[in-house]
Amino acid sequence: MNLPYCEPHKIKTVESLKRSTVSERREWIREASYNLFNLRSEQVFVDLLTDSGTGAMSDRQWAAIMTGDESYAGASSYYTLKEAIRDITGFEYFLPTHQGRAAENVLFSVLVKEGDIVPGNAHFDTTKGHIEFRKAVAVDCTVETARDIFADDPFKGNVDLGRLEKVLKETPREKLGCIVMTVTNNTAGGQPVSMANLRGVRELADRYGATVIIDSARFAENAYFIKTREEGYSEKSIRDIAREMFSYSDVMTMSSKKDAIVNIGGFIGFRDKELFRRASTYNIMFEGFITYGGMAGRDMNALATGLYEGTDCEYLESRIRQVARLGEKIASAGVPVQQPFGGHAIFIDAGRFLPHIPAGEFPAQRLAVEFYLEGGIRSAEIGTLMADRDPVTRENRHPELELVRLAVPRRVYTDNHMDYVAAAVGNVFERRDRITRGLAIKWEAPIMRHFTIELELLH
Ligand code: F0G
Repeated sequence: MNLPYCEPHKIKTVESLKRSTVSERREWIREASYNLFNLRSEQVFVDLLTDSGTGAMSDRQWAAIMTGDESYAGASSYYTLKEAIRDITGFEYFLPTHQGRAAENVLFSVLVKEGDIVPGNAHFDTTKGHIEFRKAVAVDCTVETARDIFADDPFKGNVDLGRLEKVLKETPREKLGCIVMTVTNNTAGGQPVSMANLRGVRELADRYGATVIIDSARFAENAYFIKTREEGYSEKSIRDIAREMFSYSDVMTMSSKKDAIVNIGGFIGFRDKELFRRASTYNIMFEGFITYGGMAGRDMNALATGLYEGTDCEYLESRIRQVARLGEKIASAGVPVQQPFGGHAIFIDAGRFLPHIPAGEFPAQRLAVEFYLEGGIRSAEIGTLMADRDPVTRENRHPELELVRLAVPRRVYTDNHMDYVAAAVGNVFERRDRITRGLAIKWEAPIMRHFTIELELLH
């Protein structure tokens, strides 16, 4: 008999979960105004709201915490991290920041100005926010297949090179901010970007004189997909693949809370000393001195160790397999999910799940509420609520897909938890015809409304 697959780690510390009843959850979600961000974490049984900052650190990371150097300037932890970043990414210069969006804020203070055009494969919300805040325009040039959840494309995270070239051609050089490639592509469903696509972006950037930024939050998961799906990479190591990915960019921003498996932290990697120097001034203003930039020394130590653990192929295999296991179980119940499965999350198509609920009643949010009621599972709406209103017309923007994201934290839950989640999703699918109405807005903030919105249930 072939031995079954099992994880390359064992559990040293456990945290208890609180079970609750459906009637308790009905009360709690009503008190939370049907906004899952408003729930207390003890009211949640399996928390799949995000994979960001929610991972379990290893014994080695915790040991590294104890040897953190908390000196204001020139801490040894800074140099340990600098060495790890150079080794894993190939970037010579770096600035630490407190998380990914802080890295965007510092970098875009130098690279993006009013009226600039910033194309990419699909900017993450905070990236778009930092671009639009500077009165520049973020242009998503996502490949067409990303819009079709059943399209068979191993690299649905790619940028459409034809569309990108059109934008580059039509933009005067002085208005060309930079190109942002997000790996993996979170907005398109945690879908990977191929090496060939990154190479193509580099060629176009060289031709049109643009700077290429890699938003690297899930770069290791992306490298794993290149290794397992792209011709010519199966024998290469994850770190060699990652270094090649970064070799096609000029700068990287990193939310370390994802693939570097720490609870807080970020950084910017630079090849060009002059750009690094210019950004350093903003880092000192917004984040902290350039050798700690918003991170404690102990956190830089844990991050340096996490960069190695997060690029370990055996770890990545167990990580991607667990997400796929969840996806397979959910899909086999007949539930419409984005395929191939993403690296960090399973995306459920709420538009197809609850086709009788109009987009104006927020079907994806209603579905997320139902998953909570059914099993205490917290997920995230990626649909009309998150898409927010058009800044000019104030009408709701309706994205092509109404999605619910089940994001899996790293090294936190067991496969039994995944089976539990799949069973709960399956139960909701079986009773979907009885979910006849969606939700209505009671109160909303003028921007980024989904975080604080208050809703009521329609019957
Ligand atoms: N870039 C990507 C691709 C992200 O997914 C995120 C965060 C950021 C940048 C910002 O990083 O949170 O450290 O400031 N994504 C989280 C998520 C919040 O749930 O997908 P941050």
